[in-house]
Amino acid sequence: MICTMDDNYSDKNPSLGALYAEHIETVCARHDHALEQAGANHAVIYSGNPKIAFLDDYQMPFKPNPHFVCWAPLTSLPFSFIVYTPGEKPVLIYFQPHDYWHVVPGTPDGYWTNQFDIRVIHSMDDIGAHLPVNRKNCIIVGEIQDNALGFGIERINPTTAVNILHYARGVKTQYELAVMRLASRRGATGHIAAAAAFRDGLAEFDIHRAYCKAVSHVDPELPYGNIVALNEHGAVLHYTDLEREAPTDLRSFLIDAGAQVHGYASDITRTYSFADQRFQELIDRMDAMQQDIVNQVQSGVDFRDLHIGTHKMLAEILVETDLAAGDPDTLLETGVTSAFFPHGLGHLLGTQVHDVGGFMENESGTIIDPPSGHRYLRLTRVLEENMVLTIEPGLYVVDLLLENLRGTPAEGHVNWEGVDWLRPYGGIRIEDNVRVLVNDRENLTRDAFAQL
Ligand code: GLY
Ligand code: MN
Ligand code: MN
Repeated sequence: MICTMDDNYSDKNPSLGALYAEHIETVCARHDHALEQAGANHAVIYSGNPKIAFLDDYQMPFKPNPHFVCWAPLTSLPFSFIVYTPGEKPVLIYFQPHDYWHVVPGTPDGYWTNQFDIRVIHSMDDIGAHLPVNRKNCIIVGEIQDNALGFGIERINPTTAVNILHYARGVKTQYELAVMRLASRRGATGHIAAAAAFRDGLAEFDIHRAYCKAVSHVDPELPYGNIVALNEHGAVLHYTDLEREAPTDLRSFLIDAGAQVHGYASDITRTYSFADQRFQELIDRMDAMQQDIVNQVQSGVDFRDLHIGTHKMLAEILVETDLAAGDPDTLLETGVTSAFFPHGLGHLLGTQVHDVGGFMENESGTIIDPPSGHRYLRLTRVLEENMVLTIEPGLYVVDLLLENLRGTPAEGHVNWEGVDWLRPYGGIRIEDNVRVLVNDRENLTRDAFAQL
């Protein structure tokens, strides 16, 4: 069968069925273990429900339970449940309301349907009949804000079980890897369109629209709010304002934008210089450093070491480009590198952009703290084969942080004239999504760009 690009991203993708069947086997095995350790017989995974704005009857965009999405690629199916009993085919209670105000979920269709005993229901009153009779033997995994939606199940997200599931989700199945490659490809398509819009001199708002059109996402479908930052806006780590007017003097462009396929995210950042050669050279150095770090990704590596190693590499760049002076250890210890690079090197990625479980030492939930002074590092685990994580070093002029260095031993190590030069460009971040292998790695992002 010939499949169009859109089919690749849809439930019709013919290549995903076999991988998905294996994925479900793995997910079942994880739940067998979680249920055994929690002393329960049935797991009930709730998809979630849209939240209502305060004093309003307006529904905010629906964000599904990431565990539910890990079971099934159903990102727009609120008020639905998966019931898993070890040894039995999972039951999907598929809520298709009689509702003329909203579009209702269609008839279940696609590569995923064979794996479930699907019970389509049209009324909330029908849900209870499909849940296990003995609620005492059940656990719920999901956000239950209204007791009525617990249907008498009292064990909601028991720590023992959810820790096991969170920890396991750090390692991706072959199905998840296939879907994440598609999400990378979709995101790379958007990045190419956005870069062209930047070269054409468009405003942030219009670059964002070019991106969304290329990936065929409306805003709530994006895995996170796009960061489309021209000039000094690149220094605001989570800049999402989208100015409507293009600046008269165009200097730089930082775009951090992802896409999703079947509920799995990509998370990609690129930085461009409009015309300035010095800024372009700084980007090139950061890009080379980022690829050096990616090439250190492999199973057995402690991500905390990679993060600290990045600070030392960044210190060298700061010195070579006249932004700071001193040896790398001093620049690290005095806080100079942290002022220029104030976020973590990366995080796990999956059905969540910052996928759960990044701090877990084991499935019982022991936490590995970030290194002292690096509290924004969101991944502290030792890397394992088939984890997918981001590598996203950055370098910014954040005056709030740099000014804090005044009057400290760090002040004399900063070249303040260099800082003044860099400020109008905002900053640089380069972010790829990387799969861990034994003695190797797969760069989903660069592979995706190379295929387009
Ligand atoms: N886009 C959010 C992040 O890079 O973590
Ligand atoms: Mn990002
Ligand atoms: Mn990221």
